[in-house]
Amino acid sequence: MIPQPKVEEIINASRIEEVVGDYVNLKKRGANLLGLCPFHNEKTPSFTVSPAKGIYKCFGCGKAGDSVRFIMEHDSLSYPDALKYLANKYNIEVEEIKLSDEALQSQNERESVLIALRFASDYFTQQLWEDEEGQTVGLSYFEERGFRHETIRKFGLGYSKEGWNHFYDHAIASGYKEEYLKRAGLITITEQGKIFDLFRGRVMFPVHDLSGRVVAFGGRIMKKDPKAPKYVNSPETEVYHKSDILYGYFFAKQEIRKQDRCYLVEGYTDVITLHQGGIENVVASSGTSLTEGQIKLIKRFTENVTVLYDGDPAGLKASLRGVDMILEQGLNVKVVTFPEGEDPDSYCKAQGGEAFSQYIKSNEKDFIIFKSNLLLADAANDPVKRAEVIRDIVESISKIPDNIKRSVFVKECSKLLDINEQVLINELNKIFRNRRKEEKELIKPTQEEPLNYEELLEQNEVEFRSKENQERDIIRILIQNGFELLEENKNIASFILEEFEAHELNFDNVLYQKIMDAVKEVIAQNQTINHQWFITHEDEHISRFASDILLSRHELSKKWGDRYAHLDGEREEFLRRDLHASLTRLKLKRIDDLLNENLEQIKQAETEEQINEAMQVHQYLTEMRKGLSDEMGTVVVK
Ligand code: UTP
Ligand code: MN
Repeated sequence: MIPQPKVEEIINASRIEEVVGDYVNLKKRGANLLGLCPFHNEKTPSFTVSPAKGIYKCFGCGKAGDSVRFIMEHDSLSYPDALKYLANKYNIEVEEIKLSDEALQSQNERESVLIALRFASDYFTQQLWEDEEGQTVGLSYFEERGFRHETIRKFGLGYSKEGWNHFYDHAIASGYKEEYLKRAGLITITEQGKIFDLFRGRVMFPVHDLSGRVVAFGGRIMKKDPKAPKYVNSPETEVYHKSDILYGYFFAKQEIRKQDRCYLVEGYTDVITLHQGGIENVVASSGTSLTEGQIKLIKRFTENVTVLYDGDPAGLKASLRGVDMILEQGLNVKVVTFPEGEDPDSYCKAQGGEAFSQYIKSNEKDFIIFKSNLLLADAANDPVKRAEVIRDIVESISKIPDNIKRSVFVKECSKLLDINEQVLINELNKIFRNRRKEEKELIKPTQEEPLNYEELLEQNEVEFRSKENQERDIIRILIQNGFELLEENKNIASFILEEFEAHELNFDNVLYQKIMDAVKEVIAQNQTINHQWFITHEDEHISRFASDILLSRHELSKKWGDRYAHLDGEREEFLRRDLHASLTRLKLKRIDDLLNENLEQIKQAETEEQINEAMQVHQYLTEMRKGLSDEMGTVVVK
């Protein structure tokens, strides 16, 4: 448990634009910041961050909350762990995570796996710097590769010794459970039950997630053994999903945003060498071909990607398909190739960072142009092959979501392929027509739903909504102004509560009732809270709803922002009226419900007595209703 004052210190220190900014490329838009939502797939940004209010909200998928909520959702962390993350970010000291039994057995299994990985990473670096074998084999290898000590430390490089169980024995002796070592992908257990380390006699490259936690390792072999693989990589685990991780992203993200460009390379060593050469906006897909998840990761920070290929033409052609996928996500892709036999790592090491940057700038080509040239060279004068190439390139162009960009490429390729522009356009249209046909076939079955059903639903919806509105108004006031004083010694929240009790009012909406119950408890304890309390509420629904209310442009401008902000002195009077009007509307609604119920009773009444009684109730309710609506007339400011 983190003590409450500490929690407040952390929340106060956390600036939403910085917390979100570590993950999302935010652009200024008026008083707010705007970016692509990290929680759902979108092409145009609807993810809004309000530094003034300390909250975020996506107008696309509805996710919303404060800094803590963001980290909880984004990194799937518990509330205390999200606080710890923020404390760490803002250098606020919170009690260290102790390697006690308690921590190791913590219910948070994921966290235990991460702790085991952290432990392994520390062990491997310690071995590299302090162990004799680590120094003579591992450290000297890195030095020979040209890695400076500061670079080795920055990337947390390490060494795993020759032998079957060095790491395993050390971990067990330090109190780690075999189960977590296994789940972290650090050890292998054979069918016969034999246990051994996954990484043996290798230099170690830890793989970090977006927030800098070690989630996996790559290990490069040191001895000459043609049978053993050059690199061993961690298996997929509950904390390591290869398709969603880019090597080096943690170290590159700030620079990617600053340069508004991401360099994509093949492996660990390319990333590290370029970094050392001062080129920090670089990440690697690490062995596997690029995945959609990885592209989305890049897209959070920039729309511009430059793929740095090594010179091997066969490899080049194999990776073209991966690049089509980058286009599909709406990114601008450029390509740079290197002289035969060189990869970014070797070339940067040989030329130095400055010259390397210069090389990239003067050799980068737009991907589609690059692809056209590459394929055309192959097809030479073979007309059949040429036709294939054209289709292939048009297919690539069709992946570009942006209309204007597409037509630019059509023009360029028409020149390049020496083909009439209209031919390319026709070919493009053919592709689009086919796609539309496929899509239509997919959605056909749903069109056969019964018609009346929807109409019915719509009617109910309207009814439901109008009732919703009354309730929502009350809750809005409760959240925005609940703890302002209405009169001496009575705040708005208490007033609302009393009104509800006196008139036996209730919320139909479960969430609103939940909020009301929470407020009731706060009042019972004589606490004072403000809207922040709702936003940081542990119940996700409450915090999301509160953020909604506070950020919703409609409600803010119409009701509070514009209408009251400039009134200052009169503000209180307006607030009072607004509250009164909302409550009256809710009461009216309640009376209408009662009237309807009563009407049913009149219809179903069997004895004279029952009818009379119901008629009396009817009269009483109607009078009350009239009184209320008269009152309404005097308070509603339209
Ligand atoms: P290299 O084969 O160039 O690795 O692969 P290297 O360590 O630089 O070896 P030498 O010194 O040139 O012979 C480049 C990158 O490809 C990935 C690694 O990330 C490596 O940094 N790779 C390579 C693997 O993931 N697995 C492999 O088996 C080989
Ligand atoms: Mn290499």
